[in-house]
Amino acid sequence: MGPDVVGPGQAPPGPALTEQLLRELEELAVAAARAAGRFIVAERPRGLGVLDTKSSVNDIVTVMDQQSEALLRRHLLGARPGDAILGEEDGATDGTTGITWVIDPIDGTVNYLYEIPAYCVSVAAVVGDAATAGQWRPVAGAICNPLTSEIFHARLGGGAYVLAGGEDTAIRVNPVDVLLQTMVATGFGYLPAVRARQGEVLTAILPEIRDIRRAGSAALDLCAVARGMVDAYYEAGLNPWDLAAGWVIATEAGAVVSGLNSMAPGEAAVVAAGPGIHGSLLSRLEALAPLR
Ligand code: IPD
Repeated sequence: MGPDVVGPGQAPPGPALTEQLLRELEELAVAAARAAGRFIVAERPRGLGVLDTKSSVNDIVTVMDQQSEALLRRHLLGARPGDAILGEEDGATDGTTGITWVIDPIDGTVNYLYEIPAYCVSVAAVVGDAATAGQWRPVAGAICNPLTSEIFHARLGGGAYVLAGGEDTAIRVNPVDVLLQTMVATGFGYLPAVRARQGEVLTAILPEIRDIRRAGSAALDLCAVARGMVDAYYEAGLNPWDLAAGWVIATEAGAVVSGLNSMAPGEAAVVAAGPGIHGSLLSRLEALAPLR
């Protein structure tokens, strides 16, 4: 791993990550994700439309993305006013504690627009420079799927759990070790040229695996790896807010989460899978790179 790469177990400079701090961050992530998850379901306006677009005409923003992010910012800064925030809709706000909240107010916005039940709120506490690929890592996080009332959560060294019906259940990746028996989740970017390349990679890998799933939420894809609902996940083009909470949840559930060629997971690639299959999938994807 090069000096610009931060992997699990390597801490960039930052606050002392005591057990007490990690628990506080995990609990706050759970509470904030739950509040925003309830909000986006309960307050969804009738006839929700597209408010704005970003990188392409299909990279959409709704009024609920904006309001959910505002709620998350109020909730997190209300509890820890000195923390920084990097959010999908409103960008970066500086802090003083060395903790940055990386938040996706609705991951799976296109699903949300169409009322396809696969979207979530993702909240992670990270250390390092969250705006620079390879220079940060998550230390605690939570992902709320408001339609199933499940909250996936984890903190460094604490294991990964799904909270549902008031009960916490430990989750674990699948032990698969044969590529042809590996169920792989993936996703696509919003730019046509990127998608064309992603389609080529998909065409190459499809005959070599069990099957492909495209749910439409990277954060839920990482939770699916963590709970063994798929065996692996890869995608290129993710932003930190798509990845941050799912990275710590999947890692704590036993997954290896990496980029290609010993890089940290990030925009160039994210590959998440149990240790039995991560190496084979990674080698195959490295041979097919670039993935976007
Ligand atoms: C998107 C989703 C999708 C993934 C895209 C992301 P958004 O996030 O996670 O599954 O394939 O790469 O941008 O736009 O819904 O927050």
